[in-house]
Amino acid sequence: MDEAPMLYIGEEVGSLNGPEVDVAVDPLEGTDLVAKGLNNAMSVIAVANEGNLLHAPDMYMEKLAVGPALVGVLSISDPLEITLIKAAEKLNKKVSDLTVMILDRARHEEKIQTLRKIGVRIKFLSDGDVAGAMAPAFPGAGIDLYVGSGGAPEGVLAAAALKCLGGELQSRLIPADGIEYDRCLQMGIENPYKVLSMEDMIGKEDVIFAATGITPGEFLGGVKYYPDERAETHSIVMRAKTKTIRFIRTLHYLPNKPLIHK
Ligand code: FBP
Repeated sequence: MDEAPMLYIGEEVGSLNGPEVDVAVDPLEGTDLVAKGLNNAMSVIAVANEGNLLHAPDMYMEKLAVGPALVGVLSISDPLEITLIKAAEKLNKKVSDLTVMILDRARHEEKIQTLRKIGVRIKFLSDGDVAGAMAPAFPGAGIDLYVGSGGAPEGVLAAAALKCLGGELQSRLIPADGIEYDRCLQMGIENPYKVLSMEDMIGKEDVIFAATGITPGEFLGGVKYYPDERAETHSIVMRAKTKTIRFIRTLHYLPNKPLIHK
């Protein structure tokens, strides 16, 4: 969707000696966030056994993400009003006490109007919907639902994270024209308008998700440079099979690298 350089879909990487795995990667999730010095940019990767990760075409995808309490309760095919009512009922809250996260985009105007009419709290994201979609499943983030459209590759990464967090992402590709529709077919997606379940996006088996903060965010600190040839990073590493969530704070030693540019 943008002109960022990327690995091509289907590119083989590694020594080719170990087990074959699918890799979904976004080395810079939130390009604009970094460019503008804003929070929540991170570097993200998900790995699963070969054949499990959806080869998501580079186009928009409609998403509905929830935490463990709402798994199996909602449907992305319902009108937003119904989704909110069902969510509030299940969470034993008033609809007006729900908090919904959404990318702040003109294309979401109708959804935003609906959210305002119903009176839910809105938390706008300027960019970075992998973190956005993870938020409802993240203990203490205070987000009940993530709705709206964003990149399809980001959707697969978010689905991997949500599987580890015990949440759920439902999605539907939004091919903008015949060319994008045909690209879905070429990439093996028989019905590009189908509602995609977690299984469709990341398969049934184990998945590993890792992210490292670039700028400071809700879950992760950003990269910090220190004058003594060290840099500090904060990462999260999660595994679906065990649902273990590891936070890793690392002090990197990078001698002879000018970390502080004058
Ligand atoms: P990039 O890092 O590729 O710029 O993606 C940032 C992002 O906000 C994604 O998290 C999101 O899925 C997508 O862009 C939304 O696209 P758009 O900015 O066109 O609404």
